[in-house]
Amino acid sequence: MKAMVCTRYGPPEVLQLQEVEKPVPKGNEVLVKIHATTVTPSDVLLRSGAFPLLIWLPVRIWLGFRKPRNDILGYELSGEIEAIGQDVTLFKAGDPVFGATMQRMSCSAEYICLPEKAALVIKPDNMTFEEAAAFTDGATTAWHFLHRGNIQRGQKVLINGASGSIGTFAVQIAKHLGAEVTGVCSTTNVELVRSLGADQVIDYRQEDFTQNGQTYDVIFDAVSKSSFARCKDSLTENGRYLLTDAGWRHMLLVPWTTLTGGKRVIYFLSTRKKKALLHLKELIEAGHIKSVIDRTYPLEQLPEAHRYVAQGHKKGNVVITITGEHAG
Ligand SMILES: NC(=O)c1ccc[n+]([C@@H]2O[C@H](COP(=O)([O-])OP(=O)(O)OC[C@H]3O[C@@H](n4cnc5c(N)ncnc54)[C@H](OP(=O)(O)O)[C@@H]3O)[C@@H](O)[C@H]2O)c1
Repeated sequence: MKAMVCTRYGPPEVLQLQEVEKPVPKGNEVLVKIHATTVTPSDVLLRSGAFPLLIWLPVRIWLGFRKPRNDILGYELSGEIEAIGQDVTLFKAGDPVFGATMQRMSCSAEYICLPEKAALVIKPDNMTFEEAAAFTDGATTAWHFLHRGNIQRGQKVLINGASGSIGTFAVQIAKHLGAEVTGVCSTTNVELVRSLGADQVIDYRQEDFTQNGQTYDVIFDAVSKSSFARCKDSLTENGRYLLTDAGWRHMLLVPWTTLTGGKRVIYFLSTRKKKALLHLKELIEAGHIKSVIDRTYPLEQLPEAHRYVAQGHKKGNVVITITGEHAG
């Protein structure tokens, strides 16, 4: 089968189209013919190998020293079950599915084998394969964070980076949970964020949300471009500051603010995807939440897609199609 292989850590050109062995499902595994995957900031970081200095060595030991041990990147997918192992009960051949493979990655390829208990669920009919591939990581991360933030109906929630993958889902989910939502993005994305349901939109090129005198019950920085120090005065008395990427300062503030009470910093890794996915699937089917797709590239143009995502300004998601057009 065809796959884009990460031949070493480095610039996007290290991703090369190769012929690799098609996997065969074990007893508890399904073989998925992949229709679409995505490129996320995590794929870009992993391909570059440019990990922060303090964790460079342990991460390289963990993930592979000269190249990623799992050298086919991409960890979101949609596709069709082509075959199942003899012990599989949850799926059958022909089922349309979507989900995420997390550390296993391997989605930039024509086929993948996954345990039936992986974060894989049946694709809703009202979603294309491209939309489904773009769903799992952003939506489940937004879902996990907003739940940890303990949002109550009527509370004021600000989402920074509202035009990114996690941000576009966070706006829709926070609205669904009954919050009053303010989205923060740049001028070109104001209409997009409004169309997703935000009650107010702040253009960060025109206004600094930390200086406008407003307070929020939750500030969710989906792109980690702010800091607790700057946002503290914009939080209500027991307000929560959530961020998706934390340096050592914010890491230390997580236990410290939990111990001291009052305004809290919340950071964690969103990992348990299947349960969230099953719940979110119902919201897709009810029409409450959808994926935003910025650009779509064929598998062969994966390096181009990496170059675009690395700029840090994608709107929603960047999708890679593997077997041509698959509408519906
Ligand atoms: N903790 C976890 O479990 C977890 C899970 C998944 C991902 N993550 C992390 O979450 C982060 C976000 O991922 P993502 O896929 O949502 O990112 P993304 O889609 O690549 O974010 C791009 C968006 O960020 C916006 N942006 C850039 N600079 C900004 C600024 N100064 N202020 C406000 N918005 C700004 C851009 O809007 P403009 O073009 O308008 O600037 C663009 O729409 C990544 O760092 C990823 O590693 C964490």
